[in-house]
Amino acid sequence: MADSSNTNVVWHSGLPHEERWRLLGCRGGTVWFTGLSAAGKSTIASALERELVRRGVHAFRLDGDNVRHGLNRNLGFSREDRDENIRRIGEVARLFAESGCVAITAFISPYRADRRRARRIHEQAGLEFFEVFVNTPLEVCERRDPKGMYRRARAGEITDFTGVDDPYEPPEEPKLMLNTAELTVEQCVERCIDMLAEAGMIRRGEV
Ligand code: ADX
Repeated sequence: MADSSNTNVVWHSGLPHEERWRLLGCRGGTVWFTGLSAAGKSTIASALERELVRRGVHAFRLDGDNVRHGLNRNLGFSREDRDENIRRIGEVARLFAESGCVAITAFISPYRADRRRARRIHEQAGLEFFEVFVNTPLEVCERRDPKGMYRRARAGEITDFTGVDDPYEPPEEPKLMLNTAELTVEQCVERCIDMLAEAGMIRRGEV
């Protein structure tokens, strides 16, 4: 694959994001959900997106199962493909964040190095990156099994399935941890809202 570092591509600077945000009255950043399949990432991400938009905050969700139907339809679940999946999402989230949007990503993103790279891309651009670990235990995810994937993975019909025969590296210092076996979706959203308010991303009590 071509790499822009090998070609004569020059970065073109435009409107700085601080100025854009001031003029538009918004503030961008990324909330990055990570965790096992069926941990509750997409459910919380959707509920958070809805709550932020209800408060008048421009938020947009990027979701593994959906993005893999479009932008990343050419990627599977090998280590390399997962790296590339997360690399692209890190870049896309950064663009959304720069534009003034709160990007909400819901991907297993099992590798620390990949999540670290996504964080670095944001930090280098002066953007906030909130890593949220949806740390629902594997037994609970497996019991839920909404798509029957764990059952198929245990039966050997799907290989390299995260948590079964493929690794998941938990975050060492997530900004927030949510165990959906103990918290309701509403409680999870509330904690995310508090986290964003504390960081000055949204105003507390904004309705
Ligand atoms: S990631 O590892 O590259 O971050 P991503 O979040 O995009 O994964 O996609 C995960 C979703 O793909 C799961 O929720 C599940 O529905 C489906 N899936 C299919 N095969 C696998 C697999 N081998 N491992 C994990 N998820 C899989």
